[in-house]
Amino acid sequence: MPEQRYVPFAVALALSGFAIGLALWSGPTSSDAALLAARWTARAALPLFLITYLASSLYRLAPGATTRTLLRRRRQWGLAFALAHSIHLAALLVNITLFRPRPLMTLAGGALAYAFIYLMALTSNDAAQRAMGRWWKRLHIVGLHYIWLIFLISYGGRAIHEDPAYHVEGRLFAPLLLVALAIRLWARFGRGRRAQPA
Ligand code: HEM
Repeated sequence: MPEQRYVPFAVALALSGFAIGLALWSGPTSSDAALLAARWTARAALPLFLITYLASSLYRLAPGATTRTLLRRRRQWGLAFALAHSIHLAALLVNITLFRPRPLMTLAGGALAYAFIYLMALTSNDAAQRAMGRWWKRLHIVGLHYIWLIFLISYGGRAIHEDPAYHVEGRLFAPLLLVALAIRLWARFGRGRRAQPA
């Protein structure tokens, strides 16, 4: 159904809107609210990233109606992740410019991830896929894993942070990202190898 194309974008807007609303409501000062908005908008984007990252592997490992729909809508889930992470970008720009300036060098890793996100979003169409040939797949595989790495570094750092207040999300989401990688590897090299995505 064509209207299902809009579901990923509606999910992205609902999760990110909820993250910002909750930050504005619970931050005692504007500075705290801006920090919480940056933190929770990144968290809101994670499930959208994981769906995009795992869609083809889940179909290979467990072909069925749900995984086929996820695979068919993978492009929309990827674009919805780009939308949600653009909201993270807006939140962190407010945070950095108004409240907590940072040295440019510390932003390089995240900035490269944004370059990948927007290159992948701009090339998420049939025409670009045809024009780029083998380079399309290379760009999307490298970009996807670089974004995965930034998520892993962010949550891995929280898992062992000196402030225990960060531990819960770090110890929950860093292993989740490792499990996601394991699922991809299993689908690619393990049992699921025979069931090819449509
Ligand atoms: C230059 C680019 C970026 C900057 C300046 C930035 C900044 C921030 C800030 C200020 C926070 C909140 C920090 C805190 O909780 O103390 C945050 C959280 C986070 N960011 Fe970003 N970010 C950037 C790009 C990215 C990218 C590209 C990703 C993922 C691919 C990402 C993933 C995360 C994650 C996972 C969190 C923690 C969310 C949580 O606590 O659940 N960030 N970021």
